[in-house]
Amino acid sequence: MTGAAKPRIELVDAVKVFSGGDVEAAAVRGVSLRVWPGEVFGVIGQSGAGKSTLIRLMNALERPTSGRIFVDGEDLAALSPAALRRRRRRIGMIFQHFNLLQSKTVWDNVAVPLRLEGGLSAATIKARVDALLERVGLTALAGHYPSQLSGGQKQRVGIARALACEPKVLLCDEATSALDPETTEQILTLLGELNRELDLTVVLITHEMDVVRRVCDRVAVMEAGKVVETGEVVEVFLNAESPVTRRMLGEDDRLPLRSGSARAFRLTYRGEAARAPFLSQTAKATQIDFSLHLARAGEIKGEPYGQLVVSMEGARLDDALARFQAAGVHIRELQP
Ligand SMILES: Nc1ncnc2c1ncn2[C@@H]1O[C@H](COP(=O)(O)OP(=O)(O)O)[C@@H](O)[C@H]1O
Ligand SMILES: [Mg+2]
Repeated sequence: MTGAAKPRIELVDAVKVFSGGDVEAAAVRGVSLRVWPGEVFGVIGQSGAGKSTLIRLMNALERPTSGRIFVDGEDLAALSPAALRRRRRRIGMIFQHFNLLQSKTVWDNVAVPLRLEGGLSAATIKARVDALLERVGLTALAGHYPSQLSGGQKQRVGIARALACEPKVLLCDEATSALDPETTEQILTLLGELNRELDLTVVLITHEMDVVRRVCDRVAVMEAGKVVETGEVVEVFLNAESPVTRRMLGEDDRLPLRSGSARAFRLTYRGEAARAPFLSQTAKATQIDFSLHLARAGEIKGEPYGQLVVSMEGARLDDALARFQAAGVHIRELQP
């Protein structure tokens, strides 16, 4: 993912301040990040964190107040208006509320960007639209209007339209936030498939940690216009350092109640370590006592993980910790 590859998108100290009258809103306050070709990059943060502004900088729907934005090495600020329009057509975008044209059929909505492109024959447009509708599973609904569709179907139209000009990048701004959990799952699966089939780079903005956990390779956590934490999803999810990330994960920073000499730990494990009964084995071998305060387990991109908050005591506690470490468990002591 790194190595000699060039970033598909690069932000260098990007700042965006909106000024209206005497009020200034700094929506993005110095963000530097790189998105690599073919990855699914998540940006998570609470409402107002600056996510939408950040993603709009990536296709020049917003111009930065300072800093630079590169797509495939091209500085967006240096492009002529015509070059920028061409460039923008190579960056697809989907939205929370789908933004479909209500007076046009499904088929015509998908055809819009191809007609705007100019120079394409009717036969080429027809072949492209038919293939896209087939791919997103909407062939039977080609003649329907948006008002006749479910939310999930509308977003499929949005995706087909966003892919019409064969972009290398798909920007998704809260694309599943208006959908129920089952439909969210289906749309995320589709985005994951398209990412692999088309080698499509996906930037996905969301306020839901679960969406990131399901499809993203890496994630940046935003708060008040800044990126406070970034990394592989599994790392950020399991070993969150920043308070914002831990809040978004629903982690409780308060220490569990525990008896006098016990110490509290967060134990995180994944892959092979998630299959071994390391806690009971270690407790037996070292005769420590433990109380379990929190346990969760699941999968991140197909890899099993688990996380425990335990308090432990015993003469051989250090031995127990060493055994956890040898079993591949990540240990973080919760400070009193
Ligand atoms: N066009 C605009 N004019 C003025 N302020 C804006 C504009 N767009 C966004 N903001 C402000 O910038 C901040 C970040 O907004 P936004 O990027 O939409 O955050 P998010 O998508 O994370 O909810 C908010 O305080 C918002 O009010
Ligand atoms: Mg937003």
